[in-house]
Amino acid sequence: MDTLPLDARLQAAAELIRAGWHADIGSDHATLPIWLLKSGRADRVIVVEKTTGPLEVARRAVTQAGLSGRTELRLGDGLEPLLTHELESVSLTGMGARTMLGILERGRAAGRVPAVLVVQPNDGAGLLRSWARTHGYRLVAERMVSGFWRYPVLRLERCGGPDTEHDPAYDGLPEAAALWYGPHLLRQVHPLLVQELRAQLSRLEPLERHARPQLLTDLATVRSALAWLKQAAPQEPDGAEPRQ
Ligand SMILES: C[S@@+](CC[C@H](N)C(=O)[O-])C[C@H]1O[C@@H](n2cnc3c(N)ncnc32)[C@H](O)[C@@H]1O
Repeated sequence: MDTLPLDARLQAAAELIRAGWHADIGSDHATLPIWLLKSGRADRVIVVEKTTGPLEVARRAVTQAGLSGRTELRLGDGLEPLLTHELESVSLTGMGARTMLGILERGRAAGRVPAVLVVQPNDGAGLLRSWARTHGYRLVAERMVSGFWRYPVLRLERCGGPDTEHDPAYDGLPEAAALWYGPHLLRQVHPLLVQELRAQLSRLEPLERHARPQLLTDLATVRSALAWLKQAAPQEPDGAEPRQ
């Protein structure tokens, strides 16, 4: 395939996307949607940007790639430039979880949140997992990759059944640890997750004696995740591949 490789973060997102029409929100350089078209993971894409500078960067990249015929570029806030029910699948990558939640909440009020969401927040993935559980989405796949930080990438799918708040991904796991650190990543005993948990433990433990309530809650969540991993995989070495 004649296209630039994606960095690990966007590659992980791309691998969780397969769609006829797909929209990438906050696309900037449009590297992800261009790769989706070139790799055949999407047939057509909509690139959404809230400011003109990045949208023009995206337009140039799409033109250079010879993909203008299969790409629409739209200026606007989040899901607002999409028509209701226009498409099934969107991605949001490289933003903070609170920015993403704002986009999803505004989109929900307008009935514009599609059935499939692929999200790569730079922080606070637990906020997105909690949002999904209370808004009828199931967490069907998770990846974790390293870059500037360790990034989780989530695929969420709207659940059609009657029990929309029951997501089997969380069954049998400690609730807060799974919401904050990822049920699939815990089950995979993902080596990057193990590194992340150990880093959090080293950061939080020295502060325990003077701690604020939120810090004590965070520390308890880290310990609960590590305790679950210890009983699930007592011998797992640090550099192991994630379990399938
Ligand atoms: C840090 S860049 C990430 C670019 C790319 N998605 C990536 O992961 O490499 C974030 C982009 O999101 C855009 N953005 C932020 N909030 C947005 C919103 N509410 N609607 C559309 N675009 C937004 C910004 O203009 C910026 O270009």
